[in-house]
Amino acid sequence: MFEILEKARIGPGVHRAVISALEIARAHRPGQFVILRCYDQGERIPLTIADKDSEKGTITLVWQEVGVTTYHFGTMEVGERLQDLCGPLGKPTHIENFGTVVGVGGGIGIAPLYPITKGMMAAGNHVISIIGARTEGLLFMTEEMRKVSHELLISTDDGSYGIHGFVTQVLKDLIDKGTKVDMVVAIGPVPMMKAVANLTRGYNLPTVVSLNPIMVDGTGMCGACRVEVGGKTMFGCVDGPEFDGHLVDFDLLTKRLAMYKGPELIALNRFRETERGCKCSIPGGGA
Ligand code: FAD
Ligand code: FES
Ligand code: MG
Repeated sequence: MFEILEKARIGPGVHRAVISALEIARAHRPGQFVILRCYDQGERIPLTIADKDSEKGTITLVWQEVGVTTYHFGTMEVGERLQDLCGPLGKPTHIENFGTVVGVGGGIGIAPLYPITKGMMAAGNHVISIIGARTEGLLFMTEEMRKVSHELLISTDDGSYGIHGFVTQVLKDLIDKGTKVDMVVAIGPVPMMKAVANLTRGYNLPTVVSLNPIMVDGTGMCGACRVEVGGKTMFGCVDGPEFDGHLVDFDLLTKRLAMYKGPELIALNRFRETERGCKCSIPGGGA
């Protein structure tokens, strides 16, 4: 169970792994995620199911190294097994034929956007995808995104590839040139999702965002993933992770995501000294 069958580095600090998980692959629907532990004493982290193969009984995870657990997972090799994998969790994306759906993915948000655009296309929508990163070398899954989009627009903040600028500007230009847009789905760093929601509010365009609060159990019991939506407290894991972007309190989410920065840094420094820590390229340490 939960054996790593394939593993590749698909960008700087970004990994993709295919994991054996038959029941999860069969039950999964776009927008859902898993919570995994790499080893017995390891912490639980949520990752979106970026793809699945129900016949083979596999799921694909794509993750960016940001701290101890994502670095640790990055050092695991084909043939190793995850300690446990719980899912699929969260409410699936509401998919129907809306008309024209624009998917906006920034940075690692491109991975969770992929299954949603795939689902939206299969439901008969005209899918326009806008994906972006800081610079060309940080772009990934562009060919996969092209296959699940009728139109793919790529931007980089520094202009090293595609359109020079932020994904929000690309979206604004698309709307301003008269493209009929019925729904926007935005996934990426919190400031990006906030900027997309602020933009589309002005055009009265329905906008779904996928939130990434800190999660522990993923089943509505611990309360770690509290977010405020429309003035109400909701749990990201069971009420989301997708919410109406126009109602989300992004500032509160930003504060809550930074709650454990101190301990996370201490843990990363400790990990650096371990055998696995030496195997990876943590800035300022490792091999
Ligand atoms: P740490 O150093 O522990 O934390 C770095 C930062 O990550 C923290 O400051 C905090 O903001 C956030 N974080 C820490 N622990 C958690 C936690 N238990 N849950 C959520 N956030 C946390 N990342 C991907 O790269 N790919 C994905 O497909 C993906 N999907 C996600 C889906 C959901 C529903 C959620 C909630 C998050 C998703 N994330 C994804 C974010 C990923 O879970 C965090 O990057 C990861 O937990 C960081 O753990 P760490 O130990 O490596 O880093
Ligand atoms: Fe515990 Fe959502 S992660 S309630
Ligand atoms: Mg951690």
